[in-house]
Amino acid sequence: MTRIVGRPTRGTTAPNRLRRVDRWIAARFGPALPAGALVVDLGYGAHPVTTVELYRRLHKIRPDVRVVGLEIDASRVATAAATAAAMGVQPPALTFARGGFELGGLRPVLVRAMNVLRQYEESEVDGAWAAMVGALAPDGAVVEGTCDEPGRLASWIHLDAGGPQSLTLAARLSTLDSPATLAERLPKRLIHHNVPGHPVHDLVGALSAGWAAAAPYATFGTRQRWIHAVEAVRAAGWPVLSGRSRWRLGELTVAWSALAG
Ligand SMILES: C[S@@+](CC[C@H](N)C(=O)[O-])C[C@H]1O[C@@H](n2cnc3c(N)ncnc32)[C@H](O)[C@@H]1O
Repeated sequence: MTRIVGRPTRGTTAPNRLRRVDRWIAARFGPALPAGALVVDLGYGAHPVTTVELYRRLHKIRPDVRVVGLEIDASRVATAAATAAAMGVQPPALTFARGGFELGGLRPVLVRAMNVLRQYEESEVDGAWAAMVGALAPDGAVVEGTCDEPGRLASWIHLDAGGPQSLTLAARLSTLDSPATLAERLPKRLIHHNVPGHPVHDLVGALSAGWAAAAPYATFGTRQRWIHAVEAVRAAGWPVLSGRSRWRLGELTVAWSALAG
């Protein structure tokens, strides 16, 4: 029997709070999902509403996708299928099982693990990443990150067998005061490094400076302001990935190489 890696933590969740990361996942991985793709939502919390949402979003792109919600808390596994059925999603499209960072013996092509490592120590991150990546199917990917309760601020890291690949920061622009607030919602690997002298501090600083300098563009809407802020980050030498079609959604993705120092 596989040893379950990790420990139960608070089960806080809310409908639609993971919409930003799901939108990114759908765009980044959706078109390449293989037939019958197996996707894991790790640590879905007190009830599996965001797992049902992930399933629905991927089902639009890959109708035969299978999603498994894995939770380390057995009582949350016991009630999840009934909740999903009440939301209109049944097995085998969506199932639930007990599992941890070892992924319960599954070999998915994609893992979403949002707001799971937040309640661990930073020293536990590498082991959790290695366990998840080590369980992936060939060419699989893990998306691990954090968001605030309503999902207005979010960040996530894309990992694969080659290690971390990118960091994405995402915000609801209509309510964004300053990108500096994203610092409170960084993934566990980075949140304690948002101090002078660390690359992530420089990145958040560059985005905040770009946002401040782009204030006049707010006349044309917050999207225009964000796009100009991201352009300033790129002009400052950061390896910004993707283009304006993603920036206009309030996203900034940078290659991990810039943060690894
Ligand atoms: C804060 S909830 C996150 C719920 C949902 N992912 C979201 O973002 O809304 C974290 C959940 O992860 C579970 N968890 C913690 N460590 C885990 C692990 N190693 N494997 C699976 N689930 C885990 C906890 O039991 C808890 O239910």
